[in-house]
Amino acid sequence: MSTTSVSGDAELIAGLPAGFRWGVATSAYQIEGAVAVDGRTPSIWDTYCRVPGAIDNGDTGDIACDHYHRMPADVALIKDLGLDTYRFSVAWPRVQPRGKGPVNPAGIAFYDRLVDELLVHGIDPWVTLYHWDLPQELEDTGGWPVRDTAYRFADYSMLVFDALSDRVDTWTTLNEPWCSAMLGYAYGAHAPGRREYPAALAAVHHLLLGHGLATVRMREAAPRKVDIGITLNVATAYPASSSEPDVEAARHADGMGRRIYLDPLVHGHYPADVVADLAAEGVELPVEDGDLELISAPIDVLGVNYYFSQKFTGYAEDGRTVDDAGQPISRTIPLDKPRTAMDWEIVPEGFTDLLVSIARDYPGLPMVITENGSAFEDHADASGFVADTDRTAYFTSHLAAVAEAIRQGADIRGYLAWSLMDNFEWAYGYAKRFGIIRVDYETQARTPKQSALYLKDLAQRHRGQ
Ligand code: NOJ
Repeated sequence: MSTTSVSGDAELIAGLPAGFRWGVATSAYQIEGAVAVDGRTPSIWDTYCRVPGAIDNGDTGDIACDHYHRMPADVALIKDLGLDTYRFSVAWPRVQPRGKGPVNPAGIAFYDRLVDELLVHGIDPWVTLYHWDLPQELEDTGGWPVRDTAYRFADYSMLVFDALSDRVDTWTTLNEPWCSAMLGYAYGAHAPGRREYPAALAAVHHLLLGHGLATVRMREAAPRKVDIGITLNVATAYPASSSEPDVEAARHADGMGRRIYLDPLVHGHYPADVVADLAAEGVELPVEDGDLELISAPIDVLGVNYYFSQKFTGYAEDGRTVDDAGQPISRTIPLDKPRTAMDWEIVPEGFTDLLVSIARDYPGLPMVITENGSAFEDHADASGFVADTDRTAYFTSHLAAVAEAIRQGADIRGYLAWSLMDNFEWAYGYAKRFGIIRVDYETQARTPKQSALYLKDLAQRHRGQ
């Protein structure tokens, strides 16, 4: 079944510690559908999907995997795969329509049922509070570049925490704040589709502030020991050579992608080199007194989402090292590796290097891989089965990379595959499939792929070792 030898898998399994979590992840807007049901109001993604040309094929999350109406059957699929953890996100506009005011009973009831359904099946629920679906009304008052949104997020978090913390042990505040801030506000590639660089940096700070405010309040209110953390999309930035411009370009990329989040979260300050880079661009982070104490409130677990790494050069194609605005060049060049359907290079060694670098730079911070996976061109047979040897091989090489990082001293407690099933891949719509379970969007039929059976087998053998 697997593309590697049984002995290779045995070695991989032996490299993962006892108690290692095995699971899958999803997010609300990508799977739920039912966007106008039970009092849910529009999020920035509902709005953005209506912008002509924003999403491939004009796709929207209106129906998605119809998980809102099929939840018990979907939980049964996780159970069938023998996985112990399910990471899902709560839709803010369902639970607190319009981003303010009291809890919407019909909205929170869905997550209440989901948590109970998981627990009945012995699956550990892992809640992500924010996976990109900001209530549109909060964007209308400025969105994440505005400080008030951080306070709104903390209030919303408490509504969810009050309802579910009697049964949910693990809480993630934000999923991939880099994407919310940079793709959403700098590059216009995600909702809300703005291209305002200084606003994007303000969003970085206000997302982190929202994380800190929510973390402190949840910790104070916790009825018992719960684990609280944040999930970051991070990668290794390799310099193209040891030349000074290339090394600088990689430093800059690492600063803007990894350290600008982890340094304030763990060390309580933004990295000096990043602050200097931003100052050179005329940008200042809107930090107020006390913010960094909140942002660096201790967390119990760092969620790491990893998909690929990149190589950086400080030279433009014409050899220049500064652009027309006088800013240093920092651009990616290929590592010359095979690619997934996202055109992302497959770089498992970048995963090991990343995890080891986090363990080195931020010691004492337990990590869980909260997402890892790949999109490929899937071909279903008549029964709907996909023999996804490419995705299976991706899992093998990346799990081996995790085992290698553990061998080198990184404290990694689990691995959640992205994703439970094919779903709405943001600006790519339904064209890109990351699922370990195939979704036929015509019929909503679900069929586990070879990669699902592979992970099931690995998890089972690991538990039994
Ligand atoms: C990370 C995001 O959290 C998730 O929503 C997305 O589908 C995957 N990356 C794949 O791009």
